[in-house]
Amino acid sequence: MAIETYRPLPPLRLGLAGFGTVGGGLSRLLEENREELLARCGREISIRAILVRDPAKARPCPFPDGARICTKPDDFAGDEEVDVLVELLGGVELPGRLIRAALEAGRPVVTANKALLAEAGDDLFRLAAHKGLHLGYEAGVCGSIPIIQALREGLAANRHLTVSGILNGTSNYILSAMTNDGISFSQALKQAQELGFAEADPALDIQGLDAAHKLALIIRLAWGVRYPFVELPVEGIVGVTPEDIGFAREFGYSIKLLGYAALRELAAGESRLEAGVFPALVPDDYLLAKVDHAYNAVRIEGNAAGAIFLHGPGAGAMPTASAVASDLLRIAGGGRPNNTGYIRPEPSRIAILPPQEAVSSYYIRLVVPDRPGVLRVVAGAMADHQISVAQVIQKGQKDMVVPLVIMTHDTTVRAVRAALEQIRSCGILSADPVFYRVM
Ligand code: NAP
Ligand code: HSE
Repeated sequence: MAIETYRPLPPLRLGLAGFGTVGGGLSRLLEENREELLARCGREISIRAILVRDPAKARPCPFPDGARICTKPDDFAGDEEVDVLVELLGGVELPGRLIRAALEAGRPVVTANKALLAEAGDDLFRLAAHKGLHLGYEAGVCGSIPIIQALREGLAANRHLTVSGILNGTSNYILSAMTNDGISFSQALKQAQELGFAEADPALDIQGLDAAHKLALIIRLAWGVRYPFVELPVEGIVGVTPEDIGFAREFGYSIKLLGYAALRELAAGESRLEAGVFPALVPDDYLLAKVDHAYNAVRIEGNAAGAIFLHGPGAGAMPTASAVASDLLRIAGGGRPNNTGYIRPEPSRIAILPPQEAVSSYYIRLVVPDRPGVLRVVAGAMADHQISVAQVIQKGQKDMVVPLVIMTHDTTVRAVRAALEQIRSCGILSADPVFYRVM
């Protein structure tokens, strides 16, 4: 009888584009967890070539021994000794070029670049499918949380009803610091940048676009469909003030930046996908309200599995490196690629619920004169647009104007906007009105 013997495989040699927060973290992880990785895939995983802008720059993690350091993308991309491209640069143009060239040359790719995949990923997924190659992106969504694997494999047998959660570590860090520590928005953003959570351009974080990139990838995995990125309604945390955080607390809520997608059954056999990124008031007794700092969390509700809640570090060097390395293990193990979770490489189209028809209750804050008749105007506009008021607070009068905070029952964005426009036209608003969805 033949006895199968263990034969070590040749090392898996990486071309690592980018040696910043995540690239440096990956190098450290490959060194520190070498034994664990070897035990799982039977191969050394080594860094053969590194692409950076400035090799002389001081770095928290030194370049690994034996790696060739390049500053010219063509020099880096032409290395024949590289088995896998790991793209950890950021941006869209150069990463797209390198990934396409690697796939064309028959090399699998691992990337953390959600912006590229969400905005221009279809061609790359198509090319990877055509070539039969891995295009791994576990690190692109929610840091260390294995959300890609969960949707692509663990929960693949479900018809998903909702997927929602905290998808951006930087925004959550800022909101938590403002809520729990009374730190200003700009101070908290600076801390998030120093800790390596923020994007090179932090506008992507605070304007909600990074969360939207992740949501687009989640929607594709959960439903096998494309929600055109440019049509996704996106609002970030830039306008969230300590005042709104304080009022939300009085009502028993925390303000969180959420990515939200839900399948709405309108009539028998007719469903539409509702999706968006927005700051929302989350009841303090929900698990999502307790997710602080740079943690992320995703709640997935499937028709068979029920509701699953995944929680973990959403950004930073080692958590993100953990996700990159999970993709590398899959490639080193030689399994069949399954990049999008579906047999067909093309996502199908889905009927989209117009964002203004999204039904929810809302938090509305107006700044109005503290005088007779004002409440009548506000209440009249609400009634004219069929908005039922659940709670009202008016306090903190200063210079004869006062914040008036209203919690509504279920209504639509369209009705809220129309009521606010009616109130504005009466000339009683001293500042732009603010409204957030209440979960
Ligand atoms: P980073 O710290 O800014 O590092 C970027 C690296 O890319 C640096 O080593 C930089 O070189 C190199 N680089 C950038 N442009 C280059 C160019 N034109 N030519 C050569 N080298 C270039 O960024 P990061 O935070 O590691 O993020 C990398 C990627 O991971 C991004 O797509 C990001 O969205 C994603 N991501 C980040 C996190 C996180 O927590 N930070 C989490 C998940 C996903 P120098 O070192 O010489 O400047
Ligand atoms: N800037 C991103 C965040 C990194 O803060 O969530 C992780 O994707």
